[in-house]
Amino acid sequence: MRTLREIDQLRSTLQEHRQRGQRIALVPTMGNLHAGHLALVACARQHADIVVSSLFVNPMQFGPGEDLDGYPRTFDADQAQLIEAGCDVLLAPAVSSLYPNGLDAQTRVHVPMVGEGLCGGSRPGHFDGVSTVVSMLFNLVQPDVACFGEKDYQQLAVIRKLVRDLHMPVEIIGVPIVRAEDGLALSSRNGYLNSEERAKAPALYRTLCTLRSALERGESIEKVLHQGNTTLYDAGFTPDYLELRDTMLGPVSSETRQAILLAAAKLGPARLIDNLPVQLPASTASGNRE
Ligand code: PAF
Repeated sequence: MRTLREIDQLRSTLQEHRQRGQRIALVPTMGNLHAGHLALVACARQHADIVVSSLFVNPMQFGPGEDLDGYPRTFDADQAQLIEAGCDVLLAPAVSSLYPNGLDAQTRVHVPMVGEGLCGGSRPGHFDGVSTVVSMLFNLVQPDVACFGEKDYQQLAVIRKLVRDLHMPVEIIGVPIVRAEDGLALSSRNGYLNSEERAKAPALYRTLCTLRSALERGESIEKVLHQGNTTLYDAGFTPDYLELRDTMLGPVSSETRQAILLAAAKLGPARLIDNLPVQLPASTASGNRE
């Protein structure tokens, strides 16, 4: 695996591969890799000849008071895992390479609608930061395909819209959530949990599973979500949101059958997110269906 820090090196390396007619896949990451990231690399391997992974803790997607400074940086371990996973190129640029004039002077990409509410509501500007750095990475790498985790469901929806709206010639693949044995969705932020909090954390997934069953039995959405918030509080979480949306993240209506249950909740120092698909029956009593 070649580890590249400079944009020029990346361009010339990828040019050689492109001239050979090789397909290129991109796996953007912020490092501190776990099995969820390695599933993205494995997926990328299946869809391309050359896998490029980027490792960049993107300051633009962190709000004031968020965990930019404390975000885990584990470069050597990440590099070793990517070699093991069969990654071909690791791009690890400095902040000054991607944002040479600083963040304030930087052109930003805003994806309307789908990035509003949910995580976009509680983290203002977050998805502009994601859309900007992902657009930049797509321009630098010019991948045929790029893989993103479904745990960040709203992020994936934002990126799909970004690519559609700007006619970017890249196929976006969503990769299923990888969970620990006890159900907790893998996330770099799980590392913020102490052992007591880690033991409580799978209650988020268990709660979503319970709510899904109730929704699939046709119980009232409003009541189910109310119950879910209570359960999360009782389990020690501070829920940020718990919502049922259609799969495009619009409101559910009486016509909606495929929905998605999304949650974000704080547990100690960590803000955890998770989601589950829900198959709504025709007869669901509607608290919030149009
Ligand atoms: O999902 C992440 O790790 C980040 O949001 C991404 C897509 C690498 C952009 O910084």
